[in-house]
Amino acid sequence: MTEWVPVALTRDIESGSATATTVAGAPVALWRAGNGTVHAWADRCPHRGMRLSLGFVRGDRLICLYHGWQFDADGSCRHIPAHPGLTPPSLAHTVSYRVHETGSIVWVAPVPGELDASDDAPLDLGTAVPACSVWIESDRLDGLGRALVAEAGFDVSGTVAVGEIHGVPVIAAIQIVTARQTALHTAVRDETADADVIALVVRWAHELRDRIGTAPRAVAS
Ligand code: FES
Repeated sequence: MTEWVPVALTRDIESGSATATTVAGAPVALWRAGNGTVHAWADRCPHRGMRLSLGFVRGDRLICLYHGWQFDADGSCRHIPAHPGLTPPSLAHTVSYRVHETGSIVWVAPVPGELDASDDAPLDLGTAVPACSVWIESDRLDGLGRALVAEAGFDVSGTVAVGEIHGVPVIAAIQIVTARQTALHTAVRDETADADVIALVVRWAHELRDRIGTAPRAVAS
């Protein structure tokens, strides 16, 4: 059973942008194509190893910053600027992770694999309104999970915690970013939540972070 790793709020990965994150300790490039589809690839260009998260998005392709190789949504290289007449070799291919959006959060499977694997149904957290992401000085998923149980009686299962804050239904998704840093991505499971409700959850998340420990963000999102 795949334990999906939350990596960002969906709204924070805008169309046409790329950013860096980590999944189970591995550097991952996260990017959203112009058509709105989000992709998660190993953060290493198959050409010379440049970080793909530093590249730029044009339409439905990610373009490596270094030599400009262009990769399509499947991760196949489609264009090499230095050799425009050359058909790129099939080995010029990125390593793709399964990626999924639910509950206003982007989730990545920790093992690279086929995007359409059917033997492992993805999470289904329904629709939600994004609140905020906070970064906590801790590498302990279980420690943060215990804090969520102790502080708010959340029901914690792996990387997903659900519960209520002052009667507001909340998703709190736990991502171990580095050996010293954990992120908490939060959303409200109520499509009608207004700005005051969202602000309440944002305040709670920041206060929780401040009680457990603060940390600078190790990667952009
Ligand atoms: S390192 Fe990416 S195109 Fe050369």
